Amino acid sequence: MNSLKQWVANSSEAVNIRLVKAVPGSGDDDDEDDIIEFNPEFTYPIFGEQEQIFGYKDLMINLEFASGSLASCFSMGYKEKKPTADKIYSTMKDFLPDDIIDNHDLFTQIAQRDYISFKPMGTKVSEYRSNAEGAENSVFEFYHCKFDTPRFLEFHKRMQCFAIFFIEGASIIEDTDEKWEARLLFERVSENGQETYNFVGYSNMYPYFYYPDQIRMRISQFLIMPPYQKQGHGSRLYQSLYNDFCGRKEIREMTVEDPNEEFSDLRDKNDMKHLDAKGVFNDLKAPIKKDRIEQVAATYKLTKRQVARCFELALLRKLD
Ligand code: ACO
Repeated sequence: MNSLKQWVANSSEAVNIRLVKAVPGSGDDDDEDDIIEFNPEFTYPIFGEQEQIFGYKDLMINLEFASGSLASCFSMGYKEKKPTADKIYSTMKDFLPDDIIDNHDLFTQIAQRDYISFKPMGTKVSEYRSNAEGAENSVFEFYHCKFDTPRFLEFHKRMQCFAIFFIEGASIIEDTDEKWEARLLFERVSENGQETYNFVGYSNMYPYFYYPDQIRMRISQFLIMPPYQKQGHGSRLYQSLYNDFCGRKEIREMTVEDPNEEFSDLRDKNDMKHLDAKGVFNDLKAPIKKDRIEQVAATYKLTKRQVARCFELALLRKLD
């Protein structure tokens, strides 16, 4: 039994994602300071429900990405391999960027070039500073894109694997449908007289018809990259989307596709903050009438269900 076990790898542990800041002339191309490494949360869409890979001893699958442009490189290593071992690259291929390469020297050259020259695509929406540790020289910038935005389709093909790796139940979206909208978040770092960009996260959303002539905007995928989580960027992204939707006459309501617990928390917290600031919970008394929920939902472009949830939270808070 034990001897069989050593030929089985957990696919989420075997895959190493590396975000590489390839500073030209920094000496060793694997300078540790410039690489952030983490594992995916989910690999079952690729390797199956059990998340197991058979036939290798000490398997490592490396997916390296230039931290801004997301140009990527695939490599793998192992101590021993059985002739019947699972095929790795062909199993992963459909989920990886179309233009991923396996030549590490070439990747280093591309990543060094992109470190200097990569700039985000789309329309810049806004920017903010963060007080998170290590972000003193950084400004965070939002960009709005659609699939006809120059360079976005190519970038999207590179970033969509992160949805598979980090959002449970996510699938690759139809990038030929021009209705999709995306908001990207980048970190702009000013160092040594140079400005460089790192990819931080994104959300994509789809406009559904809202009878008779408006839009229900549905947030479909929402992701902050692991090194940037728990620093307030998710809330900033959510607020940025919400402000945008509020300012657009054609949008009647904002909805979310299959929110997980973390996202629901983030949504509740931000909606509560907004509704509090608007005085919605002043003179709060149970029971809350259906009309009131409908009126708040219509005014603030939230779903009735979400508004009812916020009222419930406000009532609970009052009990405390
Ligand atoms: N220092 C410490 N903690 C902080 C700081 C800070 N400077 N700033 C914020 N926080 C805390 C917040 O208070 C919050 O705390 P809580 O969890 O106790 O409520 C927590 O960090 C998270 O808030 P944010 O930082 O604003 O959120 P984050 O940037 O981590 O984004 C998200 C949350 C989107 C869920 C992110 O973790 C993620 O992308 N996860 C993986 C993918 C995922 O689950 N996406 C949502 C799926 S659902 C969908 O796609 C529709």
